[in-house]
Amino acid sequence: MLSLRPLPFRSQVVKEVRLCVSRTASSSPKTGIVLLNMGGPQKVEQVHDYLHQIMTDRDMIQLPFAQDRLGPWIAKRRTPEVQKKYEEIGGGSPILKWTNKQGELLCQRLDKVSPNTAPHKHYVAFRYVPPYTKDAFTELERDNVERAVIFSQYPQYSCATSGSSFNAIYKYYKDKKLPEGLRFSMIDRWSTHPLLVKCFADLIRKELAKINGSKRKDTIILFSAHSLPLKAVNRGDSYPSEVGATVNLVMQELNYCNPYQLVWQSKVGPLPWLGPFTDEAIKGYVKLGKKNFVLVPIAFVNEHIETLHELDIEYCKELAEKVGVEEIRRVPAPNDHPLFIEALTSIVQNHLQSNVPVGKKFLNRCPHCVSASCYHSKKWFSEVCRI
Ligand code: FES
Repeated sequence: MLSLRPLPFRSQVVKEVRLCVSRTASSSPKTGIVLLNMGGPQKVEQVHDYLHQIMTDRDMIQLPFAQDRLGPWIAKRRTPEVQKKYEEIGGGSPILKWTNKQGELLCQRLDKVSPNTAPHKHYVAFRYVPPYTKDAFTELERDNVERAVIFSQYPQYSCATSGSSFNAIYKYYKDKKLPEGLRFSMIDRWSTHPLLVKCFADLIRKELAKINGSKRKDTIILFSAHSLPLKAVNRGDSYPSEVGATVNLVMQELNYCNPYQLVWQSKVGPLPWLGPFTDEAIKGYVKLGKKNFVLVPIAFVNEHIETLHELDIEYCKELAEKVGVEEIRRVPAPNDHPLFIEALTSIVQNHLQSNVPVGKKFLNRCPHCVSASCYHSKKWFSEVCRI
């Protein structure tokens, strides 16, 4: 019997055929996973641009006046010192290498555990070095992706880091038409995910096991996270409490096997930042007669300058020798640890199965937020995110 259904318009047929051809090509993804991070210079020649972009990003840092002139001036002044640090870790940051590896492993696992959303493809969107937000989304649009999961690679949310990356996506799209048929959703925080906790616990156990038996039980586990200006903390940034949540769950997983302390690193500039600072804490404990430490980069998911230079060279080597530390070991970042890849997979898989395209916590601004970018960005995400 002849079907009485109306024939589709020619343009619709052409479009469907095009999509079908495109989708069956071996590289054609259905679901894009956009991995957000700040990034780091791969070469010392990129250091100036990287610092310039950080110092002029008001989501990341708010200078007291004339940021458009003061920011570039600070970036230029700090470039030689920061270039030297990158030279000392081999000439560049490995963050792109690790993010790509994590993305590839994640998508391989997702293709297996979530066949109805396969094929999956990862896209890297860095904030301050290529590949930028615009590079990731241009590629994703060219690939005719149906659904983009925007996945912050900071487990603990801060308006200065994750918030800045989300605002950059809003700014990229605000004057552009959203591609037809592309759906967005987002994962903005995952500080308490059980597999993230197990991964850190496993890494800590392995490092503790390398410490001589008699010293091991009194070794202090120092969880070190990037600090924040107190102004941001008092504005209501949830990062300190989310880092604390990860620390507590990791210690619970370790059955509170050792003394521990959360400390904060990487302060810059003269304004007050959240402490106690990692280096000051090491000095303080040595004065109290505690001389063995395991350092845990609890808010970093891959190696970069803060782990390879600040923790390894400045604290575990130079400071430790200077103040008389007996033994200090640094736990590696999660990188490609199998439990970490399982954590990423589980987070995205659960998200794909959920009916929550954007979290309520993300949509609620800090109580003292005065940023127009935050207002517009959250409004935009609440409108465009859908399952
Ligand atoms: Fe936190 Fe704007 S500063 S939402």
